[in-house]
Amino acid sequence: MVGRRWFARARHVKDAALTPLTARRGGPLQGRVRVPGDKSISHRALIMGALAVGETRIAGLLEGEDVLNTGKAMRALGARVERQGEGVWTIDGVGVGGFAQPQSVLDFGNSGTGCRLVMGAVATCPISANFDGDASLRKRPMRRVLEPLVRMGAQAVLRGGDGGDLPLTLIGARDPVPIVYEPPAASAQLKSAVLLAGLASPGETVVIENEATRDHTEKMLVHFGAHVCVQSFGDQGRRITLKGQPELAAAQVVVPADPSSAAFPLVAALIVPGSELILQAVMTNPLRTGLLATLREMGATIEMLEVKIDGGEEIADLRVRTSALKGVEVPAARAPSMIDEYPILAVAAAFAEGVTRMRGLKELRVKESDRLAATADMLRVNGVKVEIEGDDLIVHGKGRAAGGGMVATHMDHRIAMAALVMGLGSEQPVNADDTAFIATSFPGFVEMMRGLGADFS
Ligand code: S3P
Repeated sequence: MVGRRWFARARHVKDAALTPLTARRGGPLQGRVRVPGDKSISHRALIMGALAVGETRIAGLLEGEDVLNTGKAMRALGARVERQGEGVWTIDGVGVGGFAQPQSVLDFGNSGTGCRLVMGAVATCPISANFDGDASLRKRPMRRVLEPLVRMGAQAVLRGGDGGDLPLTLIGARDPVPIVYEPPAASAQLKSAVLLAGLASPGETVVIENEATRDHTEKMLVHFGAHVCVQSFGDQGRRITLKGQPELAAAQVVVPADPSSAAFPLVAALIVPGSELILQAVMTNPLRTGLLATLREMGATIEMLEVKIDGGEEIADLRVRTSALKGVEVPAARAPSMIDEYPILAVAAAFAEGVTRMRGLKELRVKESDRLAATADMLRVNGVKVEIEGDDLIVHGKGRAAGGGMVATHMDHRIAMAALVMGLGSEQPVNADDTAFIATSFPGFVEMMRGLGADFS
């Protein structure tokens, strides 16, 4: 099978030797590039394709380690998953509730999204599955997702982790029950796990979010033929109702370029003098564009060209030019729309004049690393004054960074990329201790940035 060789790439990145890299200040960054497909949409397309009847075709799939691990899990659960060409994958699904008993451990490597969403999809099927991940994922909390899944009838057996809840066995419900669920945190992963569990449950599963988070699951469920009703709830929230036990029909999915990956070349162009980049066909779903709003408030020149809808999502080419930035207050309410962008925003804030205060970053403590601490340390070792006050990150921007530091990346792809971008604008080179994990979300990052003029060696 063509896809099998590809899955061989989806191993634990930690098994490889450390891959340190140094970024140095050089000439301007220039060019036009398309960053890889959106990670959130890629995971969901594989999962829903595996639960649909017929052949789903995905174009532009992110072929990063995280997504490949989800594809591997779908295959272990009985779907036929094949790579047809670059970014083009087909999946023959098993139908809602039709997952087969997997014969091997479902290993999600570094990916919280893959692991939690698949737990949801498995929780209401009459099978049991072993879930595991790498050293980073083994430290992350899974109980928050297990709590609603247990209410829906699943059972979980935790087998002791390294501070988190993996590895564990999930025993799916034979007679699932739908629930009304209010996630305790603004988390698209929690919402999505419950909605995916709701697929094989009878009746209506309801998720009430007080703050709206990325809505790719809801949109894609509709695309595959499920009945989903989304109503506004309170000031910023949503009430999502899924009618259970639909027949999902295979669909075509076009994955747009990932705004969370585009963020890295975008900020690099802002801080490296004389730069101008065009980032092509970036998804501009309003629940993902908090970084663009914040950078514009800071004074960034970012234009949206060729605005259109593709594959049900808004996309645009982003033209970015080097800009004089100033510090701003980033409200906590904006966090769900830019939750993955704080490390790179913190780099922009260091190169701004004045103080940037990013409020309400509690969720950053449970990402691939404790990203709040890792971001602060990244700046500190490179001579930038930074404080953590409660759940706020405060960066004292001086329009420059000394650099010269060795950044501890803690198995976190976004810390590694942010550190390398920082080095492109800093007075002295910036070192990242390990860049291997960049392959989880942005394969080809180093080469793409070099192609734009970045000095990485
Ligand atoms: C994601 C949701 C976010 C985000 C992650 C992707 C998703 O996590 O950080 O990278 O695809 O649903 P949380 O839901 O935990 O905030």
